[in-house]
Amino acid sequence: ATPGLLRGLKVVVTAGPTYEDLDPVRYLGNRSSGKMGFAVAASAARAGAEVVLVAGPVQLPTPACVQRVDVRSAAQMREAVSAALPADIYIGAAAVADYTPRAFSPSKIKKTGTGEVLALDLVRTPDILAEVAAREDAGLKLVVGFAAETDNVADYARQKLASKRLDLIVANRVGVPGAGFESDTNAMTAFWPGGERDFPSAPKLELADGLVALVAERLRA
Ligand code: PMT
Repeated sequence: ATPGLLRGLKVVVTAGPTYEDLDPVRYLGNRSSGKMGFAVAASAARAGAEVVLVAGPVQLPTPACVQRVDVRSAAQMREAVSAALPADIYIGAAAVADYTPRAFSPSKIKKTGTGEVLALDLVRTPDILAEVAAREDAGLKLVVGFAAETDNVADYARQKLASKRLDLIVANRVGVPGAGFESDTNAMTAFWPGGERDFPSAPKLELADGLVALVAERLRA
């Protein structure tokens, strides 16, 4: 990242998965490692921004000069994001659970005597990114979302850009080796109203620098 590119700006980044607890021993989670979001937070800090990183349950060291807030569930991530605002830029790289158990069972869910099938009762989580984008008191100059897609990347990404009223969306190609979840490398395409930029396969740390440069460009556009 170019030093000074984001000087004087506050950036809130989310990273990692969320874990939705079913009972004291089990949860619903996903394969996000947090690497992409942590790389973005590190790059924004190197570019001179004040960075708050809201991290789901991941095993990663905190990047230099980044204020980290650890959370577990989508509900906690929403609270932590809200507490971190106002900010100039929001970058949602976390893989937030879309559904959470309707109720937490305080005692361990037992196998039933007869049932071969166990149905889980799940409810939608609030869309943190869409809520942030709709907030007028958050001071945000740029709201950036991520999208994990296997096919029709451009179509789905453009749909999310419009429906969530985002300024920029970064689509990853998941389901291919060397990209998306867990891997140290990624390949992505960024879309904004009226433009797009391809980021071919590279280490996530390098892609994060490219994204921060694009964010700075879009901010000035
Ligand atoms: O963590 P890594 O292993 O490095 O992997 C990186 C990544 C693939 C997780 C990351 O680059 C990525 O694509 N993150 C977003 C994945 C995702 O959940 O996509 P989505 O299409 O479900 O969500 C779209 C956007 O809405 C995301 O910005 C997400 O943070 C946000 N969202 C989704 C649901 C919800 N309840 N609240 C949200 O804010």
